[in-house]
Amino acid sequence: MVSEECRSIIDNMCEYGCNGISRDKLAEFIDYVCYEGSAELREYLRQTANNIATDIFGNKIYIRGLIECTNICRNDCLYCGIRKSNNNVERYRLDKDDILACCKEGYRLGFRTFVLQGGEDPCYTAEFVADVVSNIKKDYPGCAVTLSFGEQEYETYRLWRDAGADRYLLRHETADKQHYARLHPGEMDYDNRVKCLYNLKELGYQVGSGFMVGSPYQTPYNLADDIIFLTKLEPHMIGIGPFVPHSDTPFADKSQGTLTQTLVMISILRVLFKKALIPSTTSLGTIAHDGREQGFLYGANVVMPNLSPVGVRKKYMLYDNKICTGEESAQCISCLEKRVQSVGYRLTVDRGDYME
Ligand code: SAM
Ligand code: FES
Repeated sequence: MVSEECRSIIDNMCEYGCNGISRDKLAEFIDYVCYEGSAELREYLRQTANNIATDIFGNKIYIRGLIECTNICRNDCLYCGIRKSNNNVERYRLDKDDILACCKEGYRLGFRTFVLQGGEDPCYTAEFVADVVSNIKKDYPGCAVTLSFGEQEYETYRLWRDAGADRYLLRHETADKQHYARLHPGEMDYDNRVKCLYNLKELGYQVGSGFMVGSPYQTPYNLADDIIFLTKLEPHMIGIGPFVPHSDTPFADKSQGTLTQTLVMISILRVLFKKALIPSTTSLGTIAHDGREQGFLYGANVVMPNLSPVGVRKKYMLYDNKICTGEESAQCISCLEKRVQSVGYRLTVDRGDYME
């Protein structure tokens, strides 16, 4: 593949999405742009993605307040620092009052979306989460509630939706079954994860999916499959970030995803999913001091500052050296405000729903 061909693929993607590009060509394109292609080619892709984001969102970056509710999880994902086999984690679980206190502080700071995330904690029953959601919606009727508590039964998702949850984040992690099996223990099933995503769509959630960039054993074909999977799912949000190893997991010695590859993937996603909400993630900010700022320049339009109580932040260590684990929420937001402004954007307080 040569630069000229890549430029014409980028132009075609702008017009026609993935139509007309085979899986093999897509994989070759991704690989070339990330590793062999020139800086000019990457800049062409970045500029294309940036123009699309600017046309649609102006210089707005949406914020969502992330509340890390529980680090207790029944799963054992091989990459994840809070997997159940990691005995070095001090476990915690926020109760309803803790979560409502985070929302109160978040609302005061200007947040209009709260993201409740955590492991698949058996004590976070369907009823408990539904009760928390309905309390948040009662106290802050204009705010959006996003949930991210992994794979659940259809009826559980329905109860949470009926309680007022607006959105759900569930990364598919990888769209290749064999690759999925290398990242997860035998009892976790790729088909069930995909079924959950379609159930969430059916229930009317705004759905976010996504994957780690540079996860162990990932090939350019996997990334091509991820893109093809997403074009079928048509999610409203797409969360991607580099894989970063955690020293107490089986992947401690694996290498992390790179900044370049993650930025290139953000731009490709922006070109293909023009209106999608694409966060510049904490893991991107962890592998490079200006990673999140660069994410915005490559087409990301969301950031999710941490609203968790400071006392628990270091316990939600999904990977080593995770940033933003020491500051108060107010400090996090003023730091982010400066970062966003340094690259010509501004944080916006509105809910930032997907624009149909
Ligand atoms: N339990 C929920 C779920 O499965 O969706 C939400 C919590 S889970 C920790 C959130 C996301 O963190 C995962 O979807 C995964 O992509 C990401 N993650 C976990 N370990 C990571 C690592 N070592 N590096 C980068 N991202 C990681
Ligand atoms: Fe469950 Fe990571 S293994 S949250």
